[in-house]
Amino acid sequence: MAISKVSFQLLSLVFLLFFTKPFVLEATLINSHVVNFTAACIEEEKKALLKFKLGLKDPAGMLSSWVGEDYCKWMGISCSNQIGNVIKLSLSNIYSTRTCLSGELDDSLLNLTYLNYLDLSYNSFNGIPIPSFIGSLKKLRYLDLSHSSFGGMVPHHLGNLSNLLYLDLTTKSYPLRPWDSDLNWLGGLSSLQYLSLGGLNLSKAAKNWLLGVNMLPSLLELHLDSSELDDLPQFIPYVNFTSLLVFDLSYNNFNSSLPQWLFNISTLVTINLANCHLAGSIRKTSWVNLCLLQSLDLFGNSISGGIEEFLHSLSGCSNSSIETLDFGYNQFSGNLPESLGSVKYLDALFLTLNSISGALPMSIGNLSHLSMLDLSFNVMNSIPESIGQLAEMFSLDLWENKWKGVLSEIHLHNLTRLKYFALSSKSKSLALNVGHDWIPLFSLSSITIINCQLGPSFPLWLRTQKEVSSITLSNNAIVDAIPDWLWTLVQNVWLLDLSTNQLTGKLPQSIQLSSELGITVNLDSNYLEGSIPLWRNATSLYLGNNRFSGQIPWNIGQEMTALKTLDLSRNYLNGSIPPSISRIKNLIVLVLSRNDLSENIPWLWKGLQKLNVIDLSENKLQGNFPSLMWSQLPRLFWLKLSQNNLSGELSLSLRDCATLFTLDLGGNRMSGTIPEWVGENLTSMSFLLLGANIFTGNIPEQLCQLPLKVLDLSQNNILGSIPKCLGNLEVMKDVGIMFKLPSSFSQPPLSVYLELIVKGRLYEYYDLIGLLRIIDLSSNNLLGEIPGEITNLST
Ligand SMILES: *[C@@H]1O[C@H](CO)[C@@H](O)[C@H](O)[C@H]1NC(C)=O
Ligand SMILES: *[C@@H]1O[C@H](CO)[C@@H](O)[C@H](O)[C@H]1NC(C)=O
Ligand SMILES: *[C@@H]1O[C@H](CO)[C@@H](O)[C@H](O)[C@H]1NC(C)=O
Ligand SMILES: *[C@@H]1O[C@H](CO)[C@@H](O)[C@H](O)[C@H]1NC(C)=O
Ligand SMILES: *[C@@H]1O[C@H](CO)[C@@H](O)[C@H](O)[C@H]1NC(C)=O
Ligand SMILES: *[C@@H]1O[C@H](CO)[C@@H](O)[C@H](O)[C@H]1NC(C)=O
Ligand SMILES: *[C@@H]1O[C@H](CO)[C@@H](O)[C@H](O)[C@H]1NC(C)=O
Ligand SMILES: *[C@@H]1O[C@H](CO)[C@@H](O)[C@H](O)[C@H]1NC(C)=O
Ligand SMILES: *[C@@H]1O[C@H](CO)[C@@H](O)[C@H](O)[C@H]1NC(C)=O
Ligand SMILES: *[C@@H]1O[C@H](CO)[C@@H](O)[C@H](O)[C@H]1NC(C)=O
Ligand SMILES: *[C@@H]1O[C@H](CO)[C@@H](O)[C@H](O)[C@H]1NC(C)=O
Ligand SMILES: *[C@@H]1O[C@H](CO)[C@@H](O)[C@H](O)[C@H]1NC(C)=O
Repeated sequence: MAISKVSFQLLSLVFLLFFTKPFVLEATLINSHVVNFTAACIEEEKKALLKFKLGLKDPAGMLSSWVGEDYCKWMGISCSNQIGNVIKLSLSNIYSTRTCLSGELDDSLLNLTYLNYLDLSYNSFNGIPIPSFIGSLKKLRYLDLSHSSFGGMVPHHLGNLSNLLYLDLTTKSYPLRPWDSDLNWLGGLSSLQYLSLGGLNLSKAAKNWLLGVNMLPSLLELHLDSSELDDLPQFIPYVNFTSLLVFDLSYNNFNSSLPQWLFNISTLVTINLANCHLAGSIRKTSWVNLCLLQSLDLFGNSISGGIEEFLHSLSGCSNSSIETLDFGYNQFSGNLPESLGSVKYLDALFLTLNSISGALPMSIGNLSHLSMLDLSFNVMNSIPESIGQLAEMFSLDLWENKWKGVLSEIHLHNLTRLKYFALSSKSKSLALNVGHDWIPLFSLSSITIINCQLGPSFPLWLRTQKEVSSITLSNNAIVDAIPDWLWTLVQNVWLLDLSTNQLTGKLPQSIQLSSELGITVNLDSNYLEGSIPLWRNATSLYLGNNRFSGQIPWNIGQEMTALKTLDLSRNYLNGSIPPSISRIKNLIVLVLSRNDLSENIPWLWKGLQKLNVIDLSENKLQGNFPSLMWSQLPRLFWLKLSQNNLSGELSLSLRDCATLFTLDLGGNRMSGTIPEWVGENLTSMSFLLLGANIFTGNIPEQLCQLPLKVLDLSQNNILGSIPKCLGNLEVMKDVGIMFKLPSSFSQPPLSVYLELIVKGRLYEYYDLIGLLRIIDLSSNNLLGEIPGEITNLST
């Protein structure tokens, strides 16, 4: 899932780079160009420009060329050929890294009576309103004030610009974004062809925006994305903008169905209604006229129905131009029909997170332009050989379906441009069966195959993938030694995940790893043996559940300074915990549980400011529970030292760990009382497990203030009565969300997140969360009745 998200982002990026084709209307605009102006300057206009400059703050000296007589040669200015009037003022900062213009816009611009092009985009006007005098620049045909941090209300005076063809007020500079109380002023812009108000707060115009827009019969592009609109009328009596090419209303909150009138505009080329809270069935829509449509984005709605219905509607077009279809994250169901092969210009098809079933049709092989296919998170079952013909394929995501059968060389044969490949099968019954000496024609950047049958031999063809930067081959029934060539291949990877196979052998003591993204190596749950390697530059190292033995290298902290996560749990490691760990300043997660580690816990951990998780449980650690270090670990969230041989009392320095969520000290020899400050100060505590120790004293009432899900005080020498309030413990229902991560492959479920011993039984931790509330006070010297409320609590 995590990878999938990453690749989704990559995809979106690639998508932006390759597929955005803004229909900029420059061509229809004034034919303005810089001329070699030699005629006498128009003194008025020069003065006006200088006055305008005076109002601006220009720290980067963008306007430093604004000196001398010939203002037509000044940066950003274009004049008319004949007389030398300023017709174009273009001070956009879009392609520049220098500091923006800010300050005030002086109304001296009004003296540029021929100005028809004004572009101040990508500057930073710090929330000043758009000045209303701009509405008096009568000749304006092009006005771009986008991304310039204007704020306040949009002046209705802009509605006086009856010659305007292009208006862009797009903003992303929340919270200073401009707003409007209605869009009635749009009616004055009857020539307008391009309108973008993306990111403006149009919530006050939410009900009548369409009336305003419908006054623009020449409109070609409409962008009202992220504009806080909440009404998409299902009916309008008459559609005025019958030449519309681009309709982008993504990221609004319509809570309605797809409106039929939209799909009647036969000129449409691009429709973007992603993330609009649209629902209803696509069956109810008739699409007959959209033969020019190239891109349809409905990602992130709740639209249902079948892809078949949509494709059927295109069959009325002799030549459908569809290139990009994004129906991801909806409720589409049914099979993909053979007619898919007829949308022959299809270049990108995104169907992730729907309920599409059945086989991928053979006709997919006819989509010779297809370069991105994302079928992840559906319930499809078979992949045809014809997919191997898709020579343009760049990113193929077949993640999390119910694939079965065999994938052979033919399936991958002609995918010569493939860079991203992800495949996993929920049914775990897809085998990848390629010849021992197969040499793929692709050279992948990212390969992700899990829950398939790749083994038993280590896939030799991987060796040919010299440009790979991410390798995940988890749970693929590989029963083999890791070949030596792998360690050369991985020099530049940021992710190597071979977890949950049956890999054998020892790891090289050092390997070359370098990636600017940080490096995650996950070899969890294999049969690896020998000593723990010292791999410099690794940021996350998961070696749990193997057969590693010997001591943890004493110099681990000197050698692996980049580590953020270290999981060596469930091995045969012995000796003491090396104090050098305290030198790994970025360490966030340390899991050494279920080994044979002995001696005292070294208490030199001062300054591991980022440490979140410590799990040293089920070892043979002894000595006193550390008394001073806890206040040095301000982010500590999870502390599990259970099933060791620790003694001493709960130290006061724990009181500073306000973020502590789990404290598990069960099965040690801890003594003393349970202090009141546990209830008063450890306000995040949800799992408090102190069972099987020799604690004495009473149960402090203050414990009832905690958002406890599990309280285990069993098998101690606790006295007195049980506080009644324990029956009324507040439930923190949403805590579960923090943990309900689906088991992912780039961040394997840590042993700490996995299990928790309660009453001697093992529970899957994430099943426990939210479902169970357990209070175990058994085997103490408690007096009196168990409050009725407590019995109500346990599951
Ligand atoms: C532009 O003006 C300069 C002198 O101001 C002159 O040298 C040059 O030849 C002129 N160019 C054209 C295309 O007229
Ligand atoms: C335009 O120019 C005239 C004459 O120089 C001047 O009086 C007037 O103030 C100018 N207008 C603006 C808005 O700067
Ligand atoms: C421009 O528009 C504003 C507000 O809509 C209006 O009050 C004003 O009279 C108009 N000015 C001209 C010159 O048309
Ligand atoms: C948008 O404007 C409305 C009212 O004009 C306001 O209630 C809302 O909070 C604004 N939204 C944002 C995100 O600023
Ligand atoms: C269509 O646009 C024209 C020109 O702006 C306008 O006069 C007319 O009222 C519009 N029709 C509708 C139904 O809005
Ligand atoms: C969405 O629409 C449905 C039915 O029209 C309605 O029951 C529901 O309350 C609406 N939700 C929101 C958030 O407006
Ligand atoms: C869509 O177009 C068809 C035929 O062109 C017409 O009969 C129908 O009324 C239109 N529907 C809408 C909602 O505009
Ligand atoms: C069909 O559409 C494609 C892509 O839009 C275009 O390149 C091609 O010329 C069209 N062919 C015909 C016969 O119209
Ligand atoms: C692919 O296209 C060819 C020619 O247009 C057609 O004969 C064939 O049936 C198509 N194959 C599939 C699987 O749709
Ligand atoms: C692979 O592509 C080549 C050239 O485009 C073509 O000749 C060959 O038939 C294709 N093979 C398969 C199995 O699709
Ligand atoms: C660690 O990374 C750096 C920078 O990428 C690289 O120069 C160095 O060789 C790497 N060291 C090892 C042992 O891989
Ligand atoms: C612990 O809680 C008590 C009572 O709420 C408070 O007075 C005290 O400052 C807290 N101490 C720490 C270290 O947070």
